[in-house]
Order: sequence, then structure tokens, then C-alpha cells
Amino acid sequence: MNIIVKQDEQTLAQTVAEAMAAYINAHPGALLCFAAGDTPLSAFRALIELQKDNKVDLTSVYYVGLDEWVGLGAETRGSCVQVMYDNYYTPAGIPADHVRVFDGLNKDVEQEKTRIQSWIDERGGIDFTLLGIGMNGHIGFNEPYSGLKDGCIYIELDDTTKSVSKKYFDTPLPVEYGIGVGAGELKKADTVFLMASGAKKAEIVKKTTQTPDEAVPSSLLNDHLNVTLFIDEAAASLL
Ligand code: F6R
Repeated sequence: MNIIVKQDEQTLAQTVAEAMAAYINAHPGALLCFAAGDTPLSAFRALIELQKDNKVDLTSVYYVGLDEWVGLGAETRGSCVQVMYDNYYTPAGIPADHVRVFDGLNKDVEQEKTRIQSWIDERGGIDFTLLGIGMNGHIGFNEPYSGLKDGCIYIELDDTTKSVSKKYFDTPLPVEYGIGVGAGELKKADTVFLMASGAKKAEIVKKTTQTPDEAVPSSLLNDHLNVTLFIDEAAASLL
């Protein structure tokens, strides 16, 4: 795996944004899958600035949401749909017909998985993915020991994921299940960016770079032919 270490979170965000812009410029019409969460937010801001400077056209590609907390929708601050629309799709001016995201309020999760998978299949698969690494190594909601599943997944959340979830919501919410794109489906992308920042991620970043291990989902992508790990110095401190 390629590893790029930058001095701090802001420099890292700029580097990731420029690499994403280069990908988008070279692949009009591609299908991109971005993580929500805190890690990519500054890269989204930098990417939108690049568009304002006419360095990239973010409307030239298509998007699929990575995941959603089952039971949450756009009206809940901290849901993936709220985070992605408010921080990326809306400020970037992405047309509605270029985006499909999971509806965590759909009680029929099988129908929801099928709806999103059809969008992925229609577009010939995911071409590019930007993933954050969770404290337990999860990518999307591919939790420890869930392996490399093809298609979309409905999954019981790991205890670490449930406890970390509190940071996203105004008041803690009893989230139990997630819906999202499977790690095997993500691994089919021709380009994978993994991103992590801060000292609290140093241990899991180290494990991400070691022998692939089902206990650490992010490590299952480290043998992808075109994967780059973007980290700041704090997250790289144990490498
Ligand atoms: C978000 C997601 C999660 C996060 C991961 C890291 O859509 O799927 O896998 O990317 O938990 O979260 P942050 O960036 O908040 O540390």
C-alpha cells in the first residue's frame, strides 16, 4: 500500500483534496463512494474550494453513499445523510440525479440494499472510494470479523462503533444496526483512499498496515493494487 504522511490535519486535507480532484478530472462519469464521519470533512472543504477555483468539476461524476445508521434520517444531526449533504453534496452543487444514499428510515432493509446496489450496478461498480478508518478498524460499517462482503450489508454494530457514535449526535442515540456498502464491493474499486488523522488513530493505523486480519477490516484493503493511506504525523506515530 502507498502511505502518504503529512505534517498536520490541514495539510493532509489539502493533499487528499488535490488527489481526489486529479482522480475526478481523469475519470468523468465515474462512481465515487465517500465516507461520512469527521475525518474527511476538511478534505471535502478543500475539494469544494478547488471547484470554486475551477480546478475540478465535482458534478462530472456520480456518487453513492457509503453507509447509514439504521433508524436515522436527514432530520437527525449526525446521520450520514445529514453530514454528507450539509458538508459535501449541497455546497458542491451536486445534482440530485447524480447521488444515491441509503435511507436509514426504510424499514425494508433488503429493499434498501437492493436499491443502492442497483445504482452501483447501473454505473458499472464503484470506481473510487474515500474511507475513514474507525477506532476498531471498521470501514463503513464493515465491522471486525465481517470480512470482505460483496454487495450491500445490513449489520449489527460493534460495541466500539456504538460507543464512538455518541460523538456525532446532540444526545446519545440507541443505534444498533447499520446499512452500507460491503468491504468486498469497495475493494473492487480501481482506486482506494484510506484516511486517518490524530494520535488516537495511531494504533489502528499501525494495524491497518500489517498482515491482513479479519479483526481489523481496514487491513483487508492493504493488499489492494491501488490503495493509498493518507495520514498525518500524529496518526503515523507508531509506524
Ligand atoms: C462514516 C463511516 C465510518 C467512519 C469511521 C471513522 O460514513 O462509515 O466508517 O469513516 O468510523 O470515523 P471518524 O472519521 O469520525 O473518525
